[in-house]
Amino acid sequence: MSRQLIAGNWKMNGSLAANDTLVRAVAAGLAGARCDVAVCVPSPYLAQVQGLLSGNSLALGAQDVSLHEQGAYTGEVSAAMLKEFGVRYAIVGHSERRQYHGETDAAVADKAKAALAHGITPIVCVGETLADREAGRTADVVKRQMAAVIHTNGHCISEIVVAYEPVWAIGTGRTATPEQAQEVHALLRTQLHAATQHVERIRILYGGSMNAANAAALLAQPDIDGGLIGGASLKPADFLQIVAAAR
Ligand code: G3P
Repeated sequence: MSRQLIAGNWKMNGSLAANDTLVRAVAAGLAGARCDVAVCVPSPYLAQVQGLLSGNSLALGAQDVSLHEQGAYTGEVSAAMLKEFGVRYAIVGHSERRQYHGETDAAVADKAKAALAHGITPIVCVGETLADREAGRTADVVKRQMAAVIHTNGHCISEIVVAYEPVWAIGTGRTATPEQAQEVHALLRTQLHAATQHVERIRILYGGSMNAANAAALLAQPDIDGGLIGGASLKPADFLQIVAAAR
């Protein structure tokens, strides 16, 4: 199994000054890290953060990618453009984009394919709403979301990263218990194992109010291979404590 991955998702936060302070503080604290670490930043800051990452082990990520190669898609950013800025990862299918931008399972699958076509590792987000969980639909929802990505990407599925992000845990401070998260991660691992002989290459991250206090218990679970971190990624000390908790 690869090293665990801790990826920060800054969401729509940051400024040139704040980014400089945050990235320098995180990069300075990575000595001895046992895991891979990335920051997924808003597109306007890709050039700045790329410059701040030179010479350290922090990887650059994006928060979305167009499913189109190029053309009349106002406001979108292609995988080829991201690649020009040294982007290594691209979050696709985040629940906030599924909710606010109507991204379908098929569109998310195509976004993952577009990223892979340019050597960018998609971090494919899946997760259920509170209503889904309370109705007992968690497994059905995450398997349906994952199936679309498997169907579209075929044998390339072994090159993706998955992030299980229960929607009810995102930004709420209500984290899934390690047992709740492990149960869904194991289900996803089984589904992916049926789709590829190289399932061991696929890292399944947990996201949803992971923080310095709960990271160790979550990251100790056998099928949790890292974290996708929102709020805590904006606080260097907290983010570094999560990195330190990686096994
Ligand atoms: O993509 C990660 C994000 O959705 C989790 O946010 O603030 O609950 O860590 P947060």
